[in-house]
Amino acid sequence: MTAYKSTPDPIEQNRARWDDVVDIHVNSSFYRVAEFRRGETSLDPLVLSEIGDVAGQKLLHLQCHFGLDTLSLARLGAHVTGLDFSGKAIAAARALAAETDIAARFVEGRVEQAPGLAGTDFDIVFTSWGVLVWLPDLTLWAQTVAKCLKPGGRFYLAEGHPVTWIFEDRKDTYRENLNVVRSYFLDGPQHWDDPRDYAEPSVSLNHHTSNEWQHTLGEVVTALAQAGLRIDFLHEHDKLVWPAIPGMERKDRFFEAPEGAPRLPVAYSISARKV
Ligand SMILES: C[S@@+](CC[C@H](N)C(=O)[O-])C[C@H]1O[C@@H](n2cnc3c(N)ncnc32)[C@H](O)[C@@H]1O
Repeated sequence: MTAYKSTPDPIEQNRARWDDVVDIHVNSSFYRVAEFRRGETSLDPLVLSEIGDVAGQKLLHLQCHFGLDTLSLARLGAHVTGLDFSGKAIAAARALAAETDIAARFVEGRVEQAPGLAGTDFDIVFTSWGVLVWLPDLTLWAQTVAKCLKPGGRFYLAEGHPVTWIFEDRKDTYRENLNVVRSYFLDGPQHWDDPRDYAEPSVSLNHHTSNEWQHTLGEVVTALAQAGLRIDFLHEHDKLVWPAIPGMERKDRFFEAPEGAPRLPVAYSISARKV
């Protein structure tokens, strides 16, 4: 009998790495869990200004991590379900919901399992900040979103702009990092081997490997349109919740280009409706 070395599943590798970071994130100042426990929202002003009224709406949060934004949406009156493939994240989300006495449902699964695990009658599907690079197939993603929504239901996405990917990221200043070193058009996955976590870079993770798929803005919009969603807006933004181009400066919840430096689209948001 021939023994075959099995190829690691890139999604499973990502899940193991996301499992590793959950406790670190819950206890990090990056995620501001103490502020959330005191009653503050974890949602940033951009999302809050664009999400619209969620009160009384049945809302599905895809890739909810440990549920901080999901629970903040529940505090705004939404009936929330959060889905994530990290069992540790879902356990932490349930614990945080119980501790803060917020009604919420959390389910463990991959994005494409959402219709079966969470349901297909949502008024709103929400997903934000650092979600699409983990998904190899945007056609499947958009079809999943459409399946989960009721007819007339809304979809909202806030995400880092793919153009930030093309720049240098090891120089000291923002202007030096504006040098283009990567193609905008990349076939995935890109494999990374990095034990550091973005929220607590000093901590070394057990699972180093991650796999990311870079998607262009055109791919995202086309996938949504072809899944039967009508785009209400596509906004591009000059600020983002992480410093996608090193040298961006922090102003409140966002990172922006330094004063006088060229401002680029570093984030975008989409609102769409199932027709
Ligand atoms: C950057 S985080 C989510 C963003 C959220 N705004 C936050 O920071 O709390 C990305 C999340 O996607 C989840 N994830 C990655 N790939 C997934 C997949 N294929 N199915 C479901 N969840 C996935 C990870 O477990 C992680 O919780």
